[in-house]
Amino acid sequence: MFVAKVLTLFPEAFPGLLGQSVVGRALGQHWALDVLNIRDYATDKHRTVDDTPYGGGAGMVLKPDVVAAAIAAAKATAGGHVVYLGPAGRRFNQAKARTLAALEKPLILLCGHYEGVDERVLERAVDDVISIGDYVLSGGEVAAQVVLDATVRLLPGVLGGNASLHEESFDLTDPATQQPLVEYPHYTRPAVWEGHDVPAVLQGGNHAEIAKWRLEQARERTLSISEVSNTSVTELHVNDFSIAKSFYTQLGFNVVWERKPEEFKGYLVLAMQANLLCLWGGSDVIHQHPFFKERPRNEWGTGVEIVICTSDLDVLYKKATALGCVVEALKMQPWGLNDFRIRDPFGYYIRVTTAHDIRNPRYAVK
Ligand code: ADE
Repeated sequence: MFVAKVLTLFPEAFPGLLGQSVVGRALGQHWALDVLNIRDYATDKHRTVDDTPYGGGAGMVLKPDVVAAAIAAAKATAGGHVVYLGPAGRRFNQAKARTLAALEKPLILLCGHYEGVDERVLERAVDDVISIGDYVLSGGEVAAQVVLDATVRLLPGVLGGNASLHEESFDLTDPATQQPLVEYPHYTRPAVWEGHDVPAVLQGGNHAEIAKWRLEQARERTLSISEVSNTSVTELHVNDFSIAKSFYTQLGFNVVWERKPEEFKGYLVLAMQANLLCLWGGSDVIHQHPFFKERPRNEWGTGVEIVICTSDLDVLYKKATALGCVVEALKMQPWGLNDFRIRDPFGYYIRVTTAHDIRNPRYAVK
């Protein structure tokens, strides 16, 4: 059985909402909750748990000896994976919930209060720090309940039929980009409500059409709520989409959408992880534009190096080697990233490198 242990200064806050609905009904059956009061591990007669911060400043800091003793007590019987809930952690998401639901040891959640917890105990006794969002709560208890709710409902047997698990927000991934998608809209009877129809495709019973419509809706909704958008996109002008598709899909890209060459010379959008490549079939057209017409092809301002960032550089290098397109072998660069260079079938020069954020000053070579 999945075991959660919560270390808190406010034990009466539990199970709280976790005692309700599906998660509450599963408590004791599919998961167990153990709540430990951090104050019970204080050693002085005032049961002191916190102290003022070294270096000054507002607030109080939870003492390392008290927190370490509470964690040790929680781990004493079966060990555990210790998570501290704090705004400086990695953002909680559905993938993290799945990881926690698959734990084979107890999940120990440490709730902070006041200004936080002494860093030395976080470094030594905590396996992971999780934040539920970019805001500061007055304590980790609400965050612990969020994390447990999202995790427990993924445990086998907690939700009735498992089918509903796979088609909801963030359990859906885009088959083209492997990125998470939020859910598509749902409708139920009546077919017309206050003059508003249920979309015809859903009433038609064509399963392929329904799946296509739902994917489009999920993509649109995901884009409409995403805070980061691709502010710059690389567009390559190519004369043959079938060569482009064959080459880039072998490299690991997927087709997001395609407009046939008959319409405005076509357009092909390809994606791999966070990389977007747009291909246009209008090279002959664009070379009639004054900007391109004036320039010989090798002049400054016409040369372009495209950078593809990946978490699977070695896999991509093998694929590129098999395709025979490598023009510079994989090597470590002075700025600390591996890369290799390829020439695509149209002659574009492409650097393939490890996923990174180039805004980080560590990549400035001194
Ligand atoms: N404790 C305080 N703020 C928090 C946050 N944003 N996420 C998780 N735990 C917290």
